Amino acid sequence: MDWREIYESRKCTADEAVKLIKSNDKVILGHCICEPSGLVDAMVRNYESYENVTIAHMVSLGKGEYTKPELKKHFRWEGFFCGGGTRKAVEEGHGDIIPVYFQDVPRWIRNGLLEYDVCMVMVSPPNEAGYCSMGVESGYTYQAVKSAKVVLAQINSQMPRTFGDTFFHVSEFDRFVEMDMPLIESKPPVIGEAEKAIGKYCASLIEDGSTLQLGIGAIPDAVLSELKDKKHLGIHSEMIADGVVDLVEAGVIDCQEKTLHNGKMIVTFLMGTKRLYDFADNNPMLELKPVDYVNDPAVIAKNNKMISINSALQVDFMGQVVACSIGTRQFSGVGGQVDFVRGAAMAEDGKGVSIIAMPSVTVKKDGTVISKIKPYIDHGAAVTTNRYDVDYIVTEYGIARMKGKNLKERARALINIAHPDVRNELKVEFEKRFNVAY
Ligand code: COA
Repeated sequence: MDWREIYESRKCTADEAVKLIKSNDKVILGHCICEPSGLVDAMVRNYESYENVTIAHMVSLGKGEYTKPELKKHFRWEGFFCGGGTRKAVEEGHGDIIPVYFQDVPRWIRNGLLEYDVCMVMVSPPNEAGYCSMGVESGYTYQAVKSAKVVLAQINSQMPRTFGDTFFHVSEFDRFVEMDMPLIESKPPVIGEAEKAIGKYCASLIEDGSTLQLGIGAIPDAVLSELKDKKHLGIHSEMIADGVVDLVEAGVIDCQEKTLHNGKMIVTFLMGTKRLYDFADNNPMLELKPVDYVNDPAVIAKNNKMISINSALQVDFMGQVVACSIGTRQFSGVGGQVDFVRGAAMAEDGKGVSIIAMPSVTVKKDGTVISKIKPYIDHGAAVTTNRYDVDYIVTEYGIARMKGKNLKERARALINIAHPDVRNELKVEFEKRFNVAY
């Protein structure tokens, strides 16, 4: 059958499409900007048609209305990364987090550890050959589309067409719902004095010709803004945001010295503003690939001068990095942090560097100042990057290298880059913990 006939015969409204979801089904949403908000809204609108439908996703910038407590008989959330829409559901007990390295999600879908009945995605209209592009994502969604029993697609002409593993033939979808809307945007973070200083310290660890991975949060963009004087940088990263576009336009990122996928930026998803999505559209310099490839430490290690930059909520005296929980509260997820910390450490040229960069303190809305460097991690917190993997820790007060140092040396190096107001307090804790003078 001609692809146009398939497309026309499977076209319907959002309310009709979500009738394919049944009670007790497990539904996985396209990751991040690929979340089909028109279909999700229709599913929530029709909540009375379902009981006990499980919704799964990793990063989501959507409304997350399926987590409302009054809908808990109809929907429950069970995902891999918490955000604004899902944290509360986990705290209230009707949502659950599955600990999983991002790189493992497609493998777990393939081997049946994670099974989904329905996958809902947002894609571009079909091209002349009958292929729709998932544009902003390959991540885990590529495998989810291949494995789910039913696949529903929201067709959005604002979705960019990107190179790599983002294309699906129309025959791979069960329903098409044409609904144009602007893609969700994540605004670039405000870069303050602390972030600038952190950016400068990180820049001092980055040689010309390096390949970068940039994590999620305010710090990675701050680092990029301090790299304008570098040459021939490359990208092999789980995600990219708008900061990368500035450096490509300035000729700093050209991927010319990349040892793997020379000349190309390799990523699994995009999360930024329209500027980033327009940049990605039909741009052969960028390829999106599934996360079990991009985040595989053995693949990461094939990049010369691999630099991994991620952020954290808390670091203890041993260098244990807490990046996804605040005490017992699940704040985000491991994402690709450990995948890249390990990949950089394994870099075949021996020049890989992993950096955990964070401001020395956080200031809560009520004005309380909390040091992010602590003698012990908070009660109930989960370690994201452990003390065996961690290497460089950077704050606005400097750089502390963990590898090769004993525990006392680690603690001293960390106290040196803590906020000056808490250093004396930390020194007292040091003496209590190690039974020696600071
Ligand atoms: N104690 C208590 N609260 C803390 C805290 C601490 N030690 N550190 C931060 N917080 C609070 C902040 O005050 C802020 O609160 P608010 O939301 O009420 O303003 C919140 O936690 C977020 O802190 P912030 O520093 O703004 O976070 P961020 O947006 O820069 O993200 C991480 C930082 C660590 C959460 C983020 O990088 C992450 O999720 N990492 C794990 C996954 C990962 O690294 N993936 C990498 C590949 S994509």
